[in-house]
Amino acid sequence: MVPQIHFPKHNLSISRLVYGIWRLHEDKHGFGEDRIYEKINLCLELGIDTFDHADIYGDFENEEHFGKVLKKYPNLKNKIKIITKCGIQVPGAKYPTKHYNTSKEHLRYSVERSLRKLQVDSLDVLLIHRPDPLMDPTEMAEVFDSLALEGKVKHFGVSNFTPSQFRMVQSKCKRPLFTNQVEFHLYHTEPMFDGTFDQMIESGIHPMVWSPTAGGKVFSPKTETEIKTSQKLLEIAKRYGASVDQILYSWFLNHPAGLVPILGTNDLERIESAANCFSYPLKRVEWFSILEVARGKEVA
Ligand SMILES: NC(=O)c1ccc[n+]([C@@H]2O[C@H](COP(=O)([O-])OP(=O)(O)OC[C@H]3O[C@@H](n4cnc5c(N)ncnc54)[C@H](OP(=O)(O)O)[C@@H]3O)[C@@H](O)[C@H]2O)c1
Repeated sequence: MVPQIHFPKHNLSISRLVYGIWRLHEDKHGFGEDRIYEKINLCLELGIDTFDHADIYGDFENEEHFGKVLKKYPNLKNKIKIITKCGIQVPGAKYPTKHYNTSKEHLRYSVERSLRKLQVDSLDVLLIHRPDPLMDPTEMAEVFDSLALEGKVKHFGVSNFTPSQFRMVQSKCKRPLFTNQVEFHLYHTEPMFDGTFDQMIESGIHPMVWSPTAGGKVFSPKTETEIKTSQKLLEIAKRYGASVDQILYSWFLNHPAGLVPILGTNDLERIESAANCFSYPLKRVEWFSILEVARGKEVA
């Protein structure tokens, strides 16, 4: 069973593994209401009660697919927590240039659209998807306050922010930011060394980490480093009578920041397997042996 992780400054707990909706529309079993319901239900049975959306996922349609299921099974709404993101404007007929928009008008417009598509009255967490070079943190703080007062969003956070960008936004917001959701996996370990995770520990909040399996690369290794890394994970998995994915997810749990990996698989058996990663706590030396092979060098 997947445990909860508490965010004390926000008095909110979410599941220690979150289910990601980015690839919902790529599911080989489709993305009809029955299939989505099957996945939400399985997640809940396993203790995964938190779902990570973004307005843009599935060409702006995945929130809507998910929302149709919530409309059909309204009792799900009290059982789940919804995180969504906004701020990226994709190029198309309306906008010829990809850009970011964190203006108060756009944030309000996006939140109201997400609420409508998801068919819920409030969002548990709203994240600014990417750091916008034109963002005005004072303006952002103002719209965060009004959306919270209106009961539309409970908590606010950011994604893919550097520590200084995070600090800048936090300096203008009286509400503590909920998280910084960042890319982190065996082939992208920078957040552990560039101050990102240090800052989360300092702030007493937990980072959410995306693409934990490096977009599936861990299971279809191509380069020499990737092959050696997968072999190392398999070697440790055999020692524990576990599977490679369970050892991989267990690796994230060792970090003292309390990382929250976001699952990206559409496969029911893989979701279930991930949920059982908590039975295999890694020894410190095993943890470093995985890091060493993935980075291709030992620590100094
Ligand atoms: N904030 C951001 O900027 C940002 C960016 C990207 C993603 N995210 C969030 O993070 C979530 C997860 O990211 P992700 O989808 O890239 O996660 P991921 O787990 O790194 O990648 C998922 C891919 O790996 C495959 N995979 C996963 N587990 C596997 C296993 N045990 N065996 C074989 N293949 C496996 C999946 O295929 P199958 O479906 O066939 O298993 C899928 O193609 C997203 O849904 C989204 O919510 C956030």
